[in-house]
Amino acid sequence: MKDPNFRNGDAKTDTFGSNASLQPAPDQFIPEGPTTPETAYQMVKDETYAQTQPRLNMATFVTTYMDEYATRLMNEAISINYIDETEYPRIAVMNAKCINIVANLWHTPEQEKWKTGALAIGSSEACMLGGIAAWIRWREKRKAQGKPYDKPNFVISTAYQICWQKFAELWQIEMRTVPISLDKTSLDPEEAIKLCDENTICVVPIMGVTWTGLNDDVEALDAALDKFNAETGYDIPIHIDAASGGFILPFLEPDKKWDFRLKWVLSISTSGHKYGLVYPGLGWIVWKDKKYLPDVMSFSVNYLGAEIRQVGLNFSRPAAQILGQYYQFIRLGFQGYKEVQFNTLAVAQYLHDQIGKTEPFVTFDKTCPNPLFAWLIKPEVQKDCKWTLFDLQDKLAQKGWMVPAYTMPDNIKEIVVMRIVVKHGFSRDMADQLLSDINFAIAELNKLEYPTPTRIAMEKDIEIESSKFNHTGR
Ligand SMILES: Cc1ncc(COP(=O)(O)O)c(C=O)c1O
Repeated sequence: MKDPNFRNGDAKTDTFGSNASLQPAPDQFIPEGPTTPETAYQMVKDETYAQTQPRLNMATFVTTYMDEYATRLMNEAISINYIDETEYPRIAVMNAKCINIVANLWHTPEQEKWKTGALAIGSSEACMLGGIAAWIRWREKRKAQGKPYDKPNFVISTAYQICWQKFAELWQIEMRTVPISLDKTSLDPEEAIKLCDENTICVVPIMGVTWTGLNDDVEALDAALDKFNAETGYDIPIHIDAASGGFILPFLEPDKKWDFRLKWVLSISTSGHKYGLVYPGLGWIVWKDKKYLPDVMSFSVNYLGAEIRQVGLNFSRPAAQILGQYYQFIRLGFQGYKEVQFNTLAVAQYLHDQIGKTEPFVTFDKTCPNPLFAWLIKPEVQKDCKWTLFDLQDKLAQKGWMVPAYTMPDNIKEIVVMRIVVKHGFSRDMADQLLSDINFAIAELNKLEYPTPTRIAMEKDIEIESSKFNHTGR
């Protein structure tokens, strides 16, 4: 062997005394040789040092806290690939049990022992599966009727999450949007119906709208669609994107009819990794009955006497999240979920209330039905204010908080809001710390003599924003 260093590592050298820690981290080519695990660990760890601590990340919807047993279970299952169902048949069954539990939380009428649903990597995949199933059902029906099936569309509000744009682009299905406005902050059922025609594969209401935290009125949409379908002879269904609400409403608003109790709701998706209380990535989709899941999407497997349907865009995927979800179901039970969601919502409502009382803010909506909400600088105050919420975002980041500022969707995109998503693991005490840091940041920003760059950039939009807010009397 010519190279004297080949297979000649030295684990005795201090990590920061090693040659490796004098080298730039690789960003183009794999390093020529190995380094010690200590040094490799340190380098990777240190690259992530400057990031937000997950529990101070108020931007994400995704679980940032699980208890030690859940974490242990998930870590122990880290090497398991869910798709290896032959090798890990109990996990396939556990997955089916989770689907059953979710389906029953949403009042599935399906009587089969194993309900029709699927595991996904998150709501994005689950939404895609719901959309694809609706599209294939529509296509097959059109084919059978000898009608063209090349111009499918679906209807959703402009406050859609980006996954729906992906769905539209990737599957070439026209997305028809109902604008949200300050007068109509969620999907207007009548406006949605106006966009429907014979090529509409489904309408998609959202429970826990990403931008505002509000819920679309599925019951009103269902009634409007029922009338429209009866008049036209169509059978346009509903897929509900319940990414957040799917695990909030069953516990906190059990009497609210938003799920499979409604006639035209044929599929619902949610994120297990949001208010399902599991670390990323986990999503669920459930169909009202197996007849709504096209055969071409479903592969039947038989384990331990259980007939299990396998559906998904990915092949390999981690199994640990299934263990995490099943653990949470057993650990918390209905009562425990209710307690956690109650507290999470109570802390969000407390923050909503406090921020609404803080000058110069006004909350986007008077209500806070889910544990997330948005607020803005009162338009009349913003005129004379030297800073914007983007500056506040930066100030809070200096204290470790990630509280995002962003512009609203089309139609009201001149409005800049800030949003907080409260999650399991965020206590009233932490909320008070955040409020104190917000107040401190406001006091600092109010000392500015000159407008910030983001404030200067905003100038021409403020008039529009102000008049719209005066108009709605908020
Ligand atoms: C309403 C809605 N749908 C879909 C998604 C996508 O979810 P995921 O990140 O689980 O893919 C989100 C994420 O925030 C969402 O809020």
